[in-house]
Amino acid sequence: MALIDVLIDELRDLYSAENQLVKALPKLAKGANDPELKQGFKDHLEETKSQVLRLRQVFEGLGKKPTGKHCEGMEGVIKEGAEALEEDAENASFDSGLIGAALRTEHYEIAGYHAAIMMSKTLGLNEAVGLLQANLAEEVNTAKKLQAAGKLIFKAATQEEEEDKDSQPASKKKASDKTSERKSKEDEKKAGV
Ligand SMILES: [Fe+2]
Ligand SMILES: [Fe+2]
Repeated sequence: MALIDVLIDELRDLYSAENQLVKALPKLAKGANDPELKQGFKDHLEETKSQVLRLRQVFEGLGKKPTGKHCEGMEGVIKEGAEALEEDAENASFDSGLIGAALRTEHYEIAGYHAAIMMSKTLGLNEAVGLLQANLAEEVNTAKKLQAAGKLIFKAATQEEEEDKDSQPASKKKASDKTSERKSKEDEKKAGV
């Protein structure tokens, strides 16, 4: 398999990932309590739509079609984000979970763009490099903004804990939590560290 084919696969993966995020980001925006965090998700949705268009341009330049691969990794990361949206938590604690999930999506994208940019550079595909770097810059910027939002929101979450320390009944475990708990033990056992 030639490097260009590996690159096309990477790019199709990214294309699928970005399309999945166009569907997922409105849910994060809807769920967020903090107005700035909410707006941040909305802004990144618009950026993500232009990232999809830039990736289409990359494919046009290469004379290939963008579809053909579903990004399983992003599906998994988004699934974890959906779990955060189901948490029964106070405002800032809930938002803290969303920030954790969103940071994972950004860094997953960042890793993908780093690899694709390096491959494109190696192949001398300058137009692709420029377009991919524009997408990468937006992901890096979004991750920074999420971290900045986290600083304030995590702090607020610790205050919520103090307020309702005594008033919370122990929450019941869902079936999915039990499965997750069992699997995590299997992970540990298989690793054997
Ligand atoms: Fe993106
Ligand atoms: Fe992103």
